[in-house]
Amino acid sequence: MTIRPLEGKVAFITGGSRGIGAAIVRRLAREGASVTFTYAAAADAAEALVGEVAASGGRGTAVRADSADAEALAVAIDAAATLHGHIDILVSNAGVITHGPVDDLPVEEFDRVFAINVRAVYAGTRAAVKHMGEGGSVITVGSIVADRSGFPGTAIYSASKGAIKSMTRGFARDLGPRGITVNNVQPGPIATDMNPAYVEDLVLPLIPLGRMGKADEVAALVAYLAGPEARFTTGASLTVDGGFLS
Ligand SMILES: NC(=O)c1ccc[n+]([C@@H]2O[C@H](COP(=O)([O-])OP(=O)(O)OC[C@H]3O[C@@H](n4cnc5c(N)ncnc54)[C@H](OP(=O)(O)O)[C@@H]3O)[C@@H](O)[C@H]2O)c1
Repeated sequence: MTIRPLEGKVAFITGGSRGIGAAIVRRLAREGASVTFTYAAAADAAEALVGEVAASGGRGTAVRADSADAEALAVAIDAAATLHGHIDILVSNAGVITHGPVDDLPVEEFDRVFAINVRAVYAGTRAAVKHMGEGGSVITVGSIVADRSGFPGTAIYSASKGAIKSMTRGFARDLGPRGITVNNVQPGPIATDMNPAYVEDLVLPLIPLGRMGKADEVAALVAYLAGPEARFTTGASLTVDGGFLS
């Protein structure tokens, strides 16, 4: 028998067309949730994923909404809530990485990354919780670089993930009285398009388990936090990193 702990739930996921977000879409749909996900550019991948979810008996919808545009994101969330009547689960996963030292990367790059990685998390949460009741779940996808940068050239990306970590704690304080949990998943190095081969070569010696993580392994933690067994967990940042931070 398939276990479907999210049956009847409505989930909204940002950046679901590829990588970790796509794994979260598959996992939450498999567990019974109706899933709406955003993408910015990868329309073909998004449509293919919608087809894949439908073919395996799930419910998935893709909508183009650039997280850099807070208004577009709020409109997409409102539309999903109107269609389904409410939202139970928000996963703010969309994110971009940037590499470069402080004496190279311009201030504009800070603004670009923060608009997608941080401002959109605030805007998306603000939009989604309007439609969320008791038992709702807000999950952010941060990164282990919130705790340790590890390499030069990561200041902007690390700062954005540090902001997510502290914002998650703030959200947990704001929304706990409404019975809404808020948690931050911090992946370590995961095999996705974000990590080209040279990154793998760099990080592998630092991972006790000796391999890159799989997007499905992050999705499993997200599913746990979205599900009925995590109702006393909030304000937490949980790491899934093969031991990188140990
Ligand atoms: N991979 C890792 O090792 C790792 C480690 C720690 C944390 N993370 C975090 O995990 C999250 C997902 O990373 P990933 O590795 O899956 O990255 P990825 O393979 O590059 O995929 C990124 C996803 O986010 C979407 N996206 C990017 N910019 C967007 C925007 N402006 N608006 C809407 N959607 C946007 C992309 O959609 P389009 O292709 O359509 O633009 C794509 O679906 C990110 O927040 C990342 O920082 C990743």
